[in-house]
Amino acid sequence: MKLLAGLALAVFVVVAGGVAAILSGAFNVAATNPDSSMTTWILHTTMQRSVAVRSSAIVAPESFTEAQVQAGSNEFRAMCAGCHGAPGRMRSAAGKGLRPRAPDLAVVANNWTNANLFWIIKNGIKMTGMPAFGPTHDDQTLWNIVAFVRQLPNMTADQYQRFADEGRAAGNEHEH
Ligand code: HEC
Repeated sequence: MKLLAGLALAVFVVVAGGVAAILSGAFNVAATNPDSSMTTWILHTTMQRSVAVRSSAIVAPESFTEAQVQAGSNEFRAMCAGCHGAPGRMRSAAGKGLRPRAPDLAVVANNWTNANLFWIIKNGIKMTGMPAFGPTHDDQTLWNIVAFVRQLPNMTADQYQRFADEGRAAGNEHEH
């Protein structure tokens, strides 16, 4: 009984302490306030493991066509480049102010499989600025975006510009 009472008291102290910490406003939610390396590790590892487990059943297409890459580039310009930046392009003001920052996909795309990328783009990442595009786009469009993101690590600013010029010439400039 004594042990149980002790345990109950310990749980109460921890819960009360947690609630007090929340209500006190001690945690600084400012996006200008950098995360500690420990916080960054916890958040990023949680995200990576969650994506790996949840995308394991997704079967990616064997390959992508040029037309899919071009179609994906049109989506990328309209929906992703502002936050993530693009070859030869800076992030928008909103993208620059995000924390966690939207990483340069030319640098990180190779950390992910095509199925991982599809899952992230479709479902988004909770508690970060990364939106879910599944509710507004069909799977075919999402695979086109994956096809384009896959090319980013090897893409020069000139090549990125050429995709943009081609999309505009074909009348594929669209707002989201
Ligand atoms: C409103 C800003 C915003 C937009 C728009 C956005 N993203 Fe993101 N994205 C983020 C943020 C912030 C993260 C970092 C999440 C994290 O650290 O867990 C992220 C993470 C990612 C990641 C995981 C990268 C990594 O290694 O951590 C991928 C892949 C990604 N986004 C792809 C896209 C694509 C493709 C689009 C367009 C269809 C897009 N994002 C649009 C903000 C955005």
